[in-house]
Amino acid sequence: MLFSFSSPSLPLPPGPKKAPIVGNLFDVARLKNPQWHTFAEWGKQYKSDIIHVGGLGNSMVILNSYEAAKELIAKRAIYDSRPRTVVLTELGGSDFVFSLMPFGDRWKAARQTCMHHFIPSDQSTHQPHETKHIHAMLLKLLDNPQDHMKHIHRVTESIMMSMIYGINPEDKYLKVMEAAATATSNLIAAGPYLANAIPALKYLPAWLPGAGFKRDARKVSVLATRLHQVPFHAAVEQLKSGEAPASFVSASLGAPEKDEYPEELLKRVEEVAGTIYVGGADTTSSAVATFFLAMVCYPEVQKKAQQELDEVLEGRLPVHGEVSSLPYLSAVIKEVLRAMLHDEGFYPDPFEFKPERFLTAEGEIDKDVLDPVEIAFGFGTRICVGTHIALSTLYLAAASALTVFDIQKAVDENGKEIEPTREYHQAGLT
Ligand code: HEM
Repeated sequence: MLFSFSSPSLPLPPGPKKAPIVGNLFDVARLKNPQWHTFAEWGKQYKSDIIHVGGLGNSMVILNSYEAAKELIAKRAIYDSRPRTVVLTELGGSDFVFSLMPFGDRWKAARQTCMHHFIPSDQSTHQPHETKHIHAMLLKLLDNPQDHMKHIHRVTESIMMSMIYGINPEDKYLKVMEAAATATSNLIAAGPYLANAIPALKYLPAWLPGAGFKRDARKVSVLATRLHQVPFHAAVEQLKSGEAPASFVSASLGAPEKDEYPEELLKRVEEVAGTIYVGGADTTSSAVATFFLAMVCYPEVQKKAQQELDEVLEGRLPVHGEVSSLPYLSAVIKEVLRAMLHDEGFYPDPFEFKPERFLTAEGEIDKDVLDPVEIAFGFGTRICVGTHIALSTLYLAAASALTVFDIQKAVDENGKEIEPTREYHQAGLT
């Protein structure tokens, strides 16, 4: 977990040796993806769960433990702003994304608009969309199992599209969203950029050698703008025609007065809608994909989860609410969310997928084991606003898939099982 701060008079946490002026800029630029392997190694090498790297007046602090993150982000709650990211936000068109905004009135208004609609106790804002699109995913998996990754991405994108905008998740919209998400992830992966450390570089003419980042960011900006504009405009047109189904946009805008909305309201709702899409689609699909990967790699876990579900459902499809209290399935979901959390102090044997670590000898959820939900969705003021939606999607997708399928390794043309690579790619905005 990263954030930047400036407090030159206090001693800094340990970290890799800094070169004069540029500090660790080149160490960071050379980091291989996924970067968290190096961060964990630095933690061991410098015997600290707080690591400092920096250069050119900028600081980056890496928090390598739950305790450090909890203490600094949740308890002290003074690190809830966001660093300036010139290339991504100011040049790359992601300045509408409120999860990247510094602490302030614009962020507060955006977060409030979001939380006003997505209240955790009101499941009607998201669950009907989940049920519909998860059922559609099951049919697609049945017809075309080799494209499972596409179906997994599509299910969360479709849930988001209909829940946020109330529009049908047609290809013409989803392709706009996918193009923007991929281009933005590539822009992030191509960094870190010198312009983030020296913002004045953003004024270089784009044609100058060395200003390639500006040309790249400009292309991404066009796509990122389309991401929040295209579905939003379609949703507003629907609203004006009086035929809009319930959604975040329709609830936040209400009925138009004389066919128009105030500009300020339109802009805020458009930006918040775009942020929710960006924050919710890929994160949730990555969790659903992790679930499928785990089921392929650990068939004995799959069998136990299926037995538990069969006893309750007797072959029918699950509905929301009835599966989230099943202990074994809950332990599986916790283990899926723990996929990135490898602190041996909390989770012995951290690289093994063992739902049993969350269970007592009697097979109930062990309340003494740290719940990954407490970590995976962040801490404090900026904690994820979609936790309840992600969990609800994950439970229903997992329980539905286990009820109707045996999830197995694919086979090649000779009938030999293909071993999954188990590799994760670094991307994303949160
Ligand atoms: C498994 C799925 C998800 C994971 C692991 C996840 C994780 C996170 C994390 C770690 C943060 C940053 C918290 C911090 O800075 O302390 C965050 C923020 C955020 N998440 Fe999620 N999230 C998921 C799903 C969702 C969903 C489904 C939505 C929306 C429906 C969503 C919307 C957001 C938003 C808008 C923010 C920014 C909050 C702010 O800056 O005030 N996320 N999420």
